[in-house]
Amino acid sequence: MSTNQLQKIYKGTIIDSSKNGTFRLLKGILGISTEGKILFREKEEELGNITAKYNVQKEQIDDLERNFLIPGFVDTHIHGPQYKFMGTGLDLPLLKWLEKYTFPTESKFSNEDLAKNVYGKVIDQTLKNGTTTACYFATIHLTASKIFSDLVIQKGQRALIGKVSMDRNSPDFYVEKTQDSLDQNEEFIKYVKEKKNDLVEPIVTPRFVPTCSPQMMKGLGELAAKYNIAIQSHISENVNEVEWVKSLHPDEDGYAAVYDKYGLLNNRTIMAHGIYLTDKEIELFKQRNAAVAHCPNSNFSLSSGVLHLKKLLRNGIKVGFGTDVSGGYSPSMMDCIRQAIIASKATMFNTKNPDDELSYQDAFYFATLGGASALGLDSKTGNFDVGKDFDACIVSPFVSSANFHVFDDDDDIEIFQKFLFSGDDRNILKVFVKGRQVI
Ligand code: GUN
Ligand code: FE
Repeated sequence: MSTNQLQKIYKGTIIDSSKNGTFRLLKGILGISTEGKILFREKEEELGNITAKYNVQKEQIDDLERNFLIPGFVDTHIHGPQYKFMGTGLDLPLLKWLEKYTFPTESKFSNEDLAKNVYGKVIDQTLKNGTTTACYFATIHLTASKIFSDLVIQKGQRALIGKVSMDRNSPDFYVEKTQDSLDQNEEFIKYVKEKKNDLVEPIVTPRFVPTCSPQMMKGLGELAAKYNIAIQSHISENVNEVEWVKSLHPDEDGYAAVYDKYGLLNNRTIMAHGIYLTDKEIELFKQRNAAVAHCPNSNFSLSSGVLHLKKLLRNGIKVGFGTDVSGGYSPSMMDCIRQAIIASKATMFNTKNPDDELSYQDAFYFATLGGASALGLDSKTGNFDVGKDFDACIVSPFVSSANFHVFDDDDDIEIFQKFLFSGDDRNILKVFVKGRQVI
C-alpha cells in the first residue's frame, strides 16, 4: 500500500494555528493518509476536485457538521507518578511539598503493580483530555520507567519519557548512586530507542540542580549528546530553590549557568517554570535556544509565583505549556490555557502594560504548536499543515452533558471560545494520534 494513499477526508470546521502563531479557522477539508499523515488541507470548494482525483468512496468522507477539529494538545511538562496524589497536598511550597508528599509517593514506584496502575491511568486521563503529546517525568526506577514507556506505546500517545536522576539532597529512601543512575539512564535510553516506535523518545531528566551532583549533571549532559536526545528539568520555580542553588554553586553565574556548564542547556532543552530567571539568564536561554515550559496551575497551587510570559516571548524564548501534574491539580491542557491567561492578567495588573495579557488565540497556540516547537516536534505535530501527522481531537459543543450551551446566533468563533473556557473532556469525542484513534 502506498504511503500517501488517502484513507479519510474530514469536512467541516478546522481550527489550528499557523507556523507563525496566527489563529486559523478553515471551513474546509483535511485528507488523511493510511499512514496517519495529512495529505491535503483545502477549502470546502475543492472537495469535488479531490473526490475525482482520489476516487473517494462515500464512507471515506466524515462530515463533521457542527463539530470541529482541533490539533491534539501538547503537555510539555507532566510527572506521570504524581498523578497518584494529584489534587492533594497543595498546602505547602515547593521544597516542603517535595519532602512531605512527592518523594514519599514517587519512592513507591519500586512497586511494579503500582507503576502499571498509575501510569495506565495518567495516560488514559491525559488522552481523554485531548493531550496527544506529553513530555513526562517518571521516577528514579528503571523498571517502572520501562513499564511507563511500554504503556505509552500500547496506548498510542506521542511522548518523551525520562527516568528521573537524583543523587544528592534526597531522602535515603529515594536517592541513587551517581554511576548507577547514569548506567540505568543509558539502559533506559537504549530500551526506548530499540522499540523503534516513532511516537516515543527518551529524554534526559535531572530532577533539578539541588538533587543532582556536578558529576551526575556532567554524565547526563554527555548521555544527551551521545544519543542526541532532549533534556528536561526544572529551573527558578521558587525563591528558596533559587537561593539554595546559589549556595550550592556560589561560583556559577546563576541557576541557568549551572545547567549550561554541564551541557544541559541547548536547543533540545525544556526547563519547567523559569519564573525567577534574570535578564542575563534569559539571554543565555536565547543564545542556547532552550525552551521554557510554563505551568501556571502549579505556579499558583504551590504558591511559587507568576511567570512574566510575555517578557520571555519578547526576548525570543521558545515556550510551551505544561500541566505539571501534580504541582498542578489538573491533567487538562484546557485548564492550563485558562490559568495561563489568568497569570498573564495578574502580571498585567502589576506592570500596567496591556501587551502583557495573553489572548485566547495565543494561549491555544502555546498549548498546541508552541509546545510542539518547544519540544522539537513541530515538524510532526501541533497543527494541520500538510505533511504532519494527524494528531487531533474532534470536539462537539453539543453533547447534552456539556457545561455550556450554544445558541442559534453563536458563530464558530464564539462556539470555539465557549469550548475553550467552559468546556471539558465531555466535549472531546474522539482523539487521534498519527491517524490512530486512541479515544
Ligand atoms: N522541582 C524539583 N522536582 C519537582 C517536582 O516534582 N515538581 C515541581 N513542580 N518542581 C520540582
Ligand atoms: Fe515539574
